[in-house]
Amino acid sequence: MEKKPLAETAVDRMEKVFGEHREYRRAHARGVIYEAIFSANGLGAEYTTATHLQGGEVKALARFSHSSPDPTWTDVMSPVKGLAVQFLLPDGGITNIVGVNSPIFLAKTPEAFTKILGVVTSFKKGKPRLRELAKLLIQYPESRAAIKIVQKMHAPASFATGRYHSIHAFYFIDKDGNRLPIKYEWEPDAGVETLTPKDAGSLPFGYYEWEIEDRLQKEPVSFRLNIVIGGEEDPTDDPTVAWPEERHKLTVGTLTILPKPAPEADERKFDPTAVTEGIECSEDQILHFRKAAYSISEERRNSEK
Ligand code: HEM
Repeated sequence: MEKKPLAETAVDRMEKVFGEHREYRRAHARGVIYEAIFSANGLGAEYTTATHLQGGEVKALARFSHSSPDPTWTDVMSPVKGLAVQFLLPDGGITNIVGVNSPIFLAKTPEAFTKILGVVTSFKKGKPRLRELAKLLIQYPESRAAIKIVQKMHAPASFATGRYHSIHAFYFIDKDGNRLPIKYEWEPDAGVETLTPKDAGSLPFGYYEWEIEDRLQKEPVSFRLNIVIGGEEDPTDDPTVAWPEERHKLTVGTLTILPKPAPEADERKFDPTAVTEGIECSEDQILHFRKAAYSISEERRNSEK
């Protein structure tokens, strides 16, 4: 029998753990999508030839999401929230930045991620393979940091008050071909605000979607796009390691969410490896694995409609 590609096994396991939710994304299932405008301040032009960072405005789509692959989970059950942004470039192309409100990810390699999911599946079946889990955490000690962060994580008070990180590194390429390692951060103009677990516990289902819609009717919601410039010793291939806080950050523009929901765009896929000229993906294996996993999810959910 032919062996399945690992990305397919990973998506299958996500369905096993969280259930098969037809027509939904296989992760970050529940969310809302809005039209947006990105206004570049021109400071990025020194480091990259990417058109949307030269200065001036481009249209964009922004999808806020709860991370759970199960859309019936309450808002509080997924303290990790997402902001996926697709820039709609003047030449008809796109470039994406997909972020979450955590600076690091659980696994360094696709194999580690898929094995961890396999063990979680055993919990779901009521036969937890605890010894195997302990062995995995010894085999992949880098995964402990993200588990600790998520355990202690407080949900943002609103989709508008999360700081969203690309986690992966990318390279900016300037007009002379120089490569600069960077990570992205979306910094909320409303300020970072989180909820205590007690307050979060009292929120009704769908609160975040309702709150952002209500906020947009009253005031602008915007995020500054910061690029964090990597130092020589900062790993560009390891999403389990955060770069030091003191790294130089440069604001290259502002994303303003428009009070215009765009549900017709929800079919779209926000592939983090879809980047325009002037930007390159780093060597991070998880980043490249996501390309395949997102395509499998897109194919499944759209074929179910
Ligand atoms: C092994 C690693 C990962 C796998 C297998 C994976 C898998 C997936 C899948 C299958 C989807 C649904 C895609 C779709 O139907 O369009 C998704 C969505 C998403 N993932 Fe991941 N993911 C991984 C890592 C990450 C990381 C490191 C981040 C952090 C930035 C992240 C953030 C998101 C977000 C924000 C969405 C929602 C995008 C949207 O709104 O369309 N994922 N993920």
